[in-house]
Amino acid sequence: MKALHAVLILFVLSAFASSASAETAVEAIAAHKHMGVASCSNSVCHGASQPFRDSDVMQNEFAIWQEFDPHAKAYQVLEQPKSKAIAQKLGLGDPTKAQVCLDCHADNVPAADRGERFQISDGVGCEACHGGSESWLNAHADRKVAHADNLAKGMYPTEDPIKRAQLCLSCHMGEKERMITHRIMGAGHPRLSFELDTFTWLHPHYKVDANWIKRRGDWNGVRDWAVGQGVAAENLLSLLLDPKTGWQGIFPELVLFNCQACHKLMKDNNWGPRQGTGLGPGVVRLNDANLVTFRYALAPVDKTAAQRVFEQTRDLHRATTQSRDATFAAARTLRATLESLLPKVAAYNFDAASLDPIFASMVADGERGEFRDYAAAEQASMAAQSLVVAFENDGKLDKAKDATLKARLDTLYNAVKDENNYSMTSFVAALKSLRSAAP
Ligand code: HEC
Ligand code: HEC
Ligand code: HEC
Ligand code: HEC
Repeated sequence: MKALHAVLILFVLSAFASSASAETAVEAIAAHKHMGVASCSNSVCHGASQPFRDSDVMQNEFAIWQEFDPHAKAYQVLEQPKSKAIAQKLGLGDPTKAQVCLDCHADNVPAADRGERFQISDGVGCEACHGGSESWLNAHADRKVAHADNLAKGMYPTEDPIKRAQLCLSCHMGEKERMITHRIMGAGHPRLSFELDTFTWLHPHYKVDANWIKRRGDWNGVRDWAVGQGVAAENLLSLLLDPKTGWQGIFPELVLFNCQACHKLMKDNNWGPRQGTGLGPGVVRLNDANLVTFRYALAPVDKTAAQRVFEQTRDLHRATTQSRDATFAAARTLRATLESLLPKVAAYNFDAASLDPIFASMVADGERGEFRDYAAAEQASMAAQSLVVAFENDGKLDKAKDATLKARLDTLYNAVKDENNYSMTSFVAALKSLRSAAP
């Protein structure tokens, strides 16, 4: 895992979920003209150098984005030698002109949807996430205009965890229209991994306080983590089920599978069983990391449902050794289960009492050998970060306990730092030691 060290950000925590509206989709982001980052960056708009005092929002979002947010450099990455090398191996020519790269490394809306100040070199700009601003740009700064009015005019509901997960994952995992393939990985692209809560707080240009909650609805980081796992698991199944993205010739798209299932050294010879797959040795397995972690999210919400996800995941693994039809059928069943559970998870109040059941189910899985696969361990470490932040927000930790918890979280992160040097034993030991320090 990349240098995601355990930076803990405290913010106002509140219970409850916003109710997810059904129809806004990532696709709708391109439905309105994108006016360009320059349309947002005026110093009296979002281009202030310091936060405004009496404003609902900080208004220095542009400065933060430009200076700290990797999205602002996403296009420049394509100008670098490492991108040229990837593109050359794939026969794509100039990566700054290649649609497949631009779709994720820039706000690549069709030419007709680009306003006068739009520049592709702005990378993943404001409107790539907040939606084309053509219809809301002028009105949205007026305090009398309700957020719902902006949403109706094409602003993206970034506050809604399900919708936010779908947005982020459309680039951080890939989707039908923006796919990252094993061929791109084979050419040298970094492996993608994502966790909604952790990644939301890595380079924030926003703050969530009482004012935000009043305007935008409730905030709960653990809920965001939980929702992010469910949406990612659903996305995996949708990609697998899609004939265009799920299959490459006679092989399924390998990017959907566990990288280490193939990329490990033959001399290791350390296969062991995993109940969660039910598979024997020598079988390529789907990357079920998000499915594994989503079960932990379900632990406080609905234990029977967690068991159902466990069983249906195992059915899916088994089906991949049988036939394509069996795989599709099992994937559809599991996807329907996830779809029915997501609204429940998004509406669940992940309060302090819900944290230990999550931890307990992770540790129990660890003891059963479920973290044999690196990808699940990496996800579990980010889940643990989300829980630690929640314990801190709950305010029951004294300084010494907080320091111990942070130190043990760092140890856990260290155990997944290098995917080529991962030891399940050290990881599980670190996980247990972290839980024993939790309140
Ligand atoms: C599905 C979306 C997607 C596609 C398609 C995609 N990328 Fe990426 N790329 C990402 C994401 C997300 C990251 C950041 C990964 C992280 O840090 O978690 C990234 C990271 C990179 C990096 C490493 C950046 C760094 O800061 O070191 C390079 C280089 C890169 N991409 C080049 C390319 C090239 C060239 C193409 C086209 C062949 C391409 N990407 C296609 C999403 C994508
Ligand atoms: C990678 C996606 C992404 C990009 C790019 C992005 N934002 Fe955001 N933005 C978010 C998320 C997520 C939030 C937090 C949730 C929310 O407040 O809706 C947010 C919050 C905000 C808020 C606070 C909203 C409120 O009501 O408190 C403002 C203002 C904002 N962004 C402006 C910008 C501007 C201006 C840019 C470009 C310079 C930008 N954003 C680029 C994702 C993004
Ligand atoms: C249009 C595609 C796109 C969308 C949408 C998107 N990202 Fe990204 N993101 C990228 C790319 C590309 C990179 C790598 C940029 C680079 O290396 O400079 C990246 C990098 C990041 C990083 C830095 C990762 C690291 O290892 O430091 C974080 C954090 C991140 N994104 C969070 C988010 C979140 C949270 C959302 C949703 C609110 C989101 N992204 C939506 C394309 C996207
Ligand atoms: C079904 C087995 C399988 C899975 C699963 C798999 N790979 Fe591969 N990978 C291969 C094969 C086969 C090659 C081609 C090796 C060659 O060209 O000699 C390869 C090549 C690569 C290469 C280029 C290595 C080189 O030396 O040129 C990278 C990088 C890579 N894969 C990354 C990944 C990542 C990241 C994942 C998970 C998202 C993954 N692979 C999943 C089988 C797999």
